[in-house]
Amino acid sequence: MRVLGIHVGHDSSAALVEDGRIVAAVAEERLVRVKHYAGVPIRAIDYCLRVGNLRPNELDAVALASTQPSPLLGLVLDRLDDGRRLAARARDLAGVPGATPPLYVPRFIVPASVPVVCVDHHLAHAASAYYTSGRSERQLVVTLDGAGDGHSTCIWRGDGGRLEPLLQLDQRASLGWFYGAVTEGLGWWHGDGEGKTMGLAAYGDAGPCHGALDRFRPKFAGGDLVEPHQLGQPAAWTDRGAVHWHLPSAAAIRELAAVHGGAAVAAEAQRVLEEQALALIVPWLEREEVDALSCAGGVFLNVKLNQRMWATGRLRDHHVFPDAGDSGIAAGAALYVSFSGAPSQPFWPLGNLALGPDYTNDEIRRLLEERHLPFRSVVEPSGEAARLLAEGKVVGWFQGRSEAGPRALGHRSILMAARPASNKDLLNARVKRREAFRPYCPSLVAAARDRYLVGARDDPFMTTAFDVRADAQSRVPAVVHVDGTARPQIVHREREPQFWQLISQYGDIAGDPLVLNTSLNAGGEPLAVSPQDAIRCFFDSGMDALVMGELVLEKR
Ligand SMILES: [Fe+2]
Repeated sequence: MRVLGIHVGHDSSAALVEDGRIVAAVAEERLVRVKHYAGVPIRAIDYCLRVGNLRPNELDAVALASTQPSPLLGLVLDRLDDGRRLAARARDLAGVPGATPPLYVPRFIVPASVPVVCVDHHLAHAASAYYTSGRSERQLVVTLDGAGDGHSTCIWRGDGGRLEPLLQLDQRASLGWFYGAVTEGLGWWHGDGEGKTMGLAAYGDAGPCHGALDRFRPKFAGGDLVEPHQLGQPAAWTDRGAVHWHLPSAAAIRELAAVHGGAAVAAEAQRVLEEQALALIVPWLEREEVDALSCAGGVFLNVKLNQRMWATGRLRDHHVFPDAGDSGIAAGAALYVSFSGAPSQPFWPLGNLALGPDYTNDEIRRLLEERHLPFRSVVEPSGEAARLLAEGKVVGWFQGRSEAGPRALGHRSILMAARPASNKDLLNARVKRREAFRPYCPSLVAAARDRYLVGARDDPFMTTAFDVRADAQSRVPAVVHVDGTARPQIVHREREPQFWQLISQYGDIAGDPLVLNTSLNAGGEPLAVSPQDAIRCFFDSGMDALVMGELVLEKR
């Protein structure tokens, strides 16, 4: 069964699911090069159909990740079930700028034999978590985000291939809005800069402003909402095809930051987020008598919250869908439709997230020759990169299919040695041009996990922070945050053979089978996908070398 999933909104995306397994997934932002792009994902849809070698009439279903899909979809999808005539709604928009596509915009004509199914936003998040967990046995599934289809906070029971809602709360319970409003108050983009808030939090002392954010947070007790937030109603600001949320309360939070300092406010926001999320989730684990938890929704991009959840010691199985934000609900909606027709089909664990476009050596070579760029060919790219890293170089690493989700996982990465500590400042200043308080993450071979980390689980996707062993911190200081934690990618040979080989070979030379791994992009840009993206980033930054497939560019 082949299901195409489509999400239109913040982080528009498409995904293809075959027999319960994600075989392609890409966010439109990666292809149009506008971060969090919110338009119709025509390029992503086209890519997914090409991966499956499918025409729209060969699909078994189309899954739209919303109960109120964008009328703009009617412009490219010719029909819709459930009595919703998107094309008709789209015609109502005729004359509205942007609502009438030019002739050259592709239309995907889906015949009446292919059902088009609307899947609720949070159900799609829940499906993305449950059906990629690798196990169908009874577990708690939690979805937390800003808001989608009227909900912000949902608890589900996943069991035997089916998802059953246990609690569904509207926007008044939104922890995503709370953290987003703080992020806006600190001067960053709500729906983008939350990772900065989390990074800054480790530098602050929440004590002086303890309780100062209480009226802006939803309060949970006993697994339910007991006090809604007072954040006000959100407005949206559209800039370059992306939506920026704005909450009126952000102004008051900015004043708090002026009094207490941004780091203290960030620390308090992180404390409150962890406190409230646990007050919601832990009672449900007890009520359901389960020790397995799967999570999705943008709030679970917060790796410190995930660390706190894991550190409760209550979980035997802890799975966070790595594309937890809205770009992941195209895959989630498609998984839901795939499993609703066949709940007993096998659950595939996510092997890796390399689900996007790839390029052959010949294609890359041709591009470099057209641009008159000097390069050399190597037989073994991993050995070459390992040697460059050991010489202290900043190395771009472009291999195979691009990653879905927000993290670079060894396909479109910038790598560097994790020692000395000054490598972090060098990267911040010369390559990424970003705030000094933001940490970098390690990728390490699975066998070395417990040499560096305390009580960590095998997380191949950088979803959770863990404490770094005291005796290891001085060996890899550039990837240890100020609070002594790191957000690792645990690299398994069978899942990521080439990246595993690179890290192992580096370890053979330098002693530590661990490298600093950050995304191959310039600050504010989406993660690179194409060789052109990588070349632009290489020449517009202080990177020393770029290894693309078997071809190597180096600056003298
Ligand atoms: Fe969402």
